[in-house]
Amino acid sequence: MFRSSHYNANVFFTSPKLVAEDIITQQKFMEVPIKYPAKLTLRVVLTCIMAATGGLIFGYDHGVSGGVTSMDSFLKKFFPSVYEKESNVKPSSNQYCKFNSQILTLFTSSLYLSALAAGLGASSITRMLGRRATMIMGGIFFVAGALLNGLAVSIWMLIVGRLLLGFGIGCANQSVPIYVSEMAPYKYRGALNMCFQLSITIGIFVANLFNYYFSKILNGQGWRLSLGLGAVPAFIFVIGSFCLPDSPSSLVERGLHEDAKRELVKIRGTTEVDAEFRDILAASEASQNVKHPWRTLMDRKYRPQLVFAICIPFFQQFTGLNVITFYAPILFRTIGFGSGASLMSAVIIGSFKPVSTLVSILLVDKFGRRTLFLEGGAQMLICQIIMTIAIAVTFGTNGNPGTLPKWYAIVVVGIICVYVSGFAWSWGPLGWLIPSEIFPLEIRPAAQSITVGVNMISTFFIAQFFTSMLCHMKFGLFIFFGCFVVIMTLFIYKLLPETKGIPLEEMSMVWQKHPIWGKFLESDNPIQNDKMNSKC
Ligand code: BGC
Repeated sequence: MFRSSHYNANVFFTSPKLVAEDIITQQKFMEVPIKYPAKLTLRVVLTCIMAATGGLIFGYDHGVSGGVTSMDSFLKKFFPSVYEKESNVKPSSNQYCKFNSQILTLFTSSLYLSALAAGLGASSITRMLGRRATMIMGGIFFVAGALLNGLAVSIWMLIVGRLLLGFGIGCANQSVPIYVSEMAPYKYRGALNMCFQLSITIGIFVANLFNYYFSKILNGQGWRLSLGLGAVPAFIFVIGSFCLPDSPSSLVERGLHEDAKRELVKIRGTTEVDAEFRDILAASEASQNVKHPWRTLMDRKYRPQLVFAICIPFFQQFTGLNVITFYAPILFRTIGFGSGASLMSAVIIGSFKPVSTLVSILLVDKFGRRTLFLEGGAQMLICQIIMTIAIAVTFGTNGNPGTLPKWYAIVVVGIICVYVSGFAWSWGPLGWLIPSEIFPLEIRPAAQSITVGVNMISTFFIAQFFTSMLCHMKFGLFIFFGCFVVIMTLFIYKLLPETKGIPLEEMSMVWQKHPIWGKFLESDNPIQNDKMNSKC
């Protein structure tokens, strides 16, 4: 990593008063490696782990809704027409179309629309009141939503509950990843940030397990426990967030310089924090000059960040992973498994996610982000091709399998596990890590809101249209997602610079050194570049 902050770089791109000394200083800075001294203190580990429990609520919700919507008692009560079709009272002529109901999928997807709105709104709160305030708000919304859903006696309670859960998720996902990246020492930022993803996957797994057990108890009312128990992780998150300090960057941003420095000393476990503190101050100064972060984000010099803020979450969802997360039980019932076997298969698959995320935590700061992205992409693509062939051979296009061969269940579950692992050590955690580390402070909350917004709208799309896509595309659905995996892998290969081991305040250099982005940014500032070139 190199000594040069993006504030210098920004001055280059914006200030007409550029002077030769600035250029020389900039060039000198580009060559001097810096290290902010920092220990991995218990305080920082606990802080990051506690903040990452925000991921639990997101994951719990992802995991719970698909299982609940495959439970007969729940369908009978709230979606009787789907129940009739699915239970063969009025059978669907095609197996692929058994669960095709837009109202049913609206139950899962509606949440992501409110999460989208909350994610966008949360940007100002995160900036003005701090990351912690947004986290607390998110947790409270989630507790309220989970309780309302668990107690639902009519469809409006379900919908309002889902909207509240969505507000909670929007707030948590907007604030937690940037909070963790700001608190973590740069050397461990990847691993600590990925605790967010780890807790998402633990949340999904716990929800899968609960669905499996609760589907068999309380005379069919077990779904109430599945939905209501979401309040528990949310409650832990609220309490945890109350006890957390705000990040030094956020404290400085709000003028609390003394508190910020004190906090920096505590989390870094050393009094030698002057260099880092100076860079945070400079970042904050640049940030204060930005009166309209949303408009600023559109500036050409932030184009690489904007492209990644949009493409990373979009591609993450178009890996197709959430088809499995949300609808594994429904998918398994569609492709011939019984109800208990479907919920159990979801549990088995769910267990692969946290384990693979752990692998990623161990590898990300060693091998870097690009390696994980490229390997994960290749692994997912191979699995998608095998899955397509297995389902095509067995079901054909008319969705009538006759008797299912034994090998079939083993191949399908096995391949889905490998596919899920590929996602869980690449696009899953990196989909949150990369955005949280590439945005400079002055656009960080706004850019993170875009990431959350795009993630939520893409998740909405998948959640809402999966059953009808399956009905129309049949086994071709997996090839549809496979094509996106090819595109996104090429996108990473060509456009993502390695961000491993670079302090947040130094991140702007990675774009300037990148063969494509470097040219793009150079062409933004021909006068400066002429001067730079003549100096060389
Ligand atoms: C994604 C979720 C996904 C989860 C699965 C997260 O990073 O944003 O949509 O369900 O990973 O592991």
